[in-house]
Amino acid sequence: MMKKAVKITTIGGGSSYTPELVEGFIKRYDELPVRELWLVDIEEGNEKLEIVGNLAKRMVEEAGVPMDIHLTLDRRQALKGADFVTTQMRVGQLDARIKDERIPLQHGIIGQETNGAGGLFKGLRTIPVLLEIAEEMQELCPDAWLINFTNPAGMVTEALLRYGKHQKVVGVCNLPVNVRMTIARLLGVETERVQIDFAGLNHLVYGLNIYIDGDNKTKEVIEILADPEKQITMRNIAPLPWLPEFQKSLGVVLCPYHRYYYKTKEILEEELESFKTGKTRAEVVKRLEAELFELYKNPDLNIKPPQLEKRGGAYYSDAACNLISSIYNDKGDIQTLNVRNDGAITGIPAESAVEVNCFVTKDGPVPIAVGELPVEVNGLVQQIKSFERVAAEAAVTGSYEKALLALCINPLVPSDEIAKNVLDDMLEAHKEFLPQFFQNAGEAGYR
Ligand code: G6P
Repeated sequence: MMKKAVKITTIGGGSSYTPELVEGFIKRYDELPVRELWLVDIEEGNEKLEIVGNLAKRMVEEAGVPMDIHLTLDRRQALKGADFVTTQMRVGQLDARIKDERIPLQHGIIGQETNGAGGLFKGLRTIPVLLEIAEEMQELCPDAWLINFTNPAGMVTEALLRYGKHQKVVGVCNLPVNVRMTIARLLGVETERVQIDFAGLNHLVYGLNIYIDGDNKTKEVIEILADPEKQITMRNIAPLPWLPEFQKSLGVVLCPYHRYYYKTKEILEEELESFKTGKTRAEVVKRLEAELFELYKNPDLNIKPPQLEKRGGAYYSDAACNLISSIYNDKGDIQTLNVRNDGAITGIPAESAVEVNCFVTKDGPVPIAVGELPVEVNGLVQQIKSFERVAAEAAVTGSYEKALLALCINPLVPSDEIAKNVLDDMLEAHKEFLPQFFQNAGEAGYR
């Protein structure tokens, strides 16, 4: 039977990561015939869109697949009739990320784009834009799935589920895929043979049990991960090893982002060093990105360049394309996704976003019941969930009080006074992208 051709719309199409996505669609063309890929960006991103879009066209031509690549600044036109919409934009571009990292560090606290003060501000800038996209989707492509990679993916999914007009929403992250691949490598087996019971929140996900060919090997894997030489790392996070005693007594797999919470002091020292030398991650990425775009300009380049793997988001297209393909092909396989909890994790509201294993069919992902989280991890998960909820509310209402509260309850912010100082500085620095805090000055607004 001939399957329906697929139209995909990618918002933030000018991203340096786009070649990953295009490669993912090319590789899967036989099972997922993407006939139209619409790369959308805004005026400020037009130059990048042209460069990466032309590379995408050359990649498709080289691969010999009949995929039409459209480049546009007209989001509404691109959304019309889409089957899947992926979002990978960065409101305020990399310069805003540099501020998210550097301003908290100026106040002596961690600066990171997905957690703490930096995560809050990335969320405050991003959530209103994504809610607008969700509203447009409801009008222009009501049956399409919104697949979001934009960080902070947990907070953003929370906001879309609670306040969005379009409920077919899934948050995707490359982290679970990377954890699984690393464990497979450490064990010397193929990735397909490893199954992990993932549960928690985005960038705060734990591997509760690990199986190889269905046999529970959790103890053996924890033993390996307690070895300081055998860590799960990511390009964007310092590879500080866990104390073996901590890893063993915790007994579950930690993700690289847990270092921000269990190694706060060491990570902060490391970040302050990078701050001094102008080498925070955002600054490094800005240079890397400039190099990538120079490569992308080369008219002879017609594949994804290996240099892209220096970025933390390597393999994100596997997560995204596998999800799209499983929905399209009604596969019923298991993937780790950010979805409505719906009772999967006990103690988290049904309507909140969690990152858990899901069965993926043509009707989308259905979370697999986890039950109660182990007492050792439940506390932090609950605290970060509170942060995400209050932050999402702040993003939607533009409430100064809620934004302050979000910071005060975040474990990476050690004092209410620091919270206020950081908040004031960051609101000022990001003013241009935070209209909700400045338009309704007065009751709910800022000042
Ligand atoms: C990891 C995270 C992503 C994040 C990326 C940042 O892979 O899972 O959510 O976007 O790192 O990488 P970058 O190269 O931009 O620092």
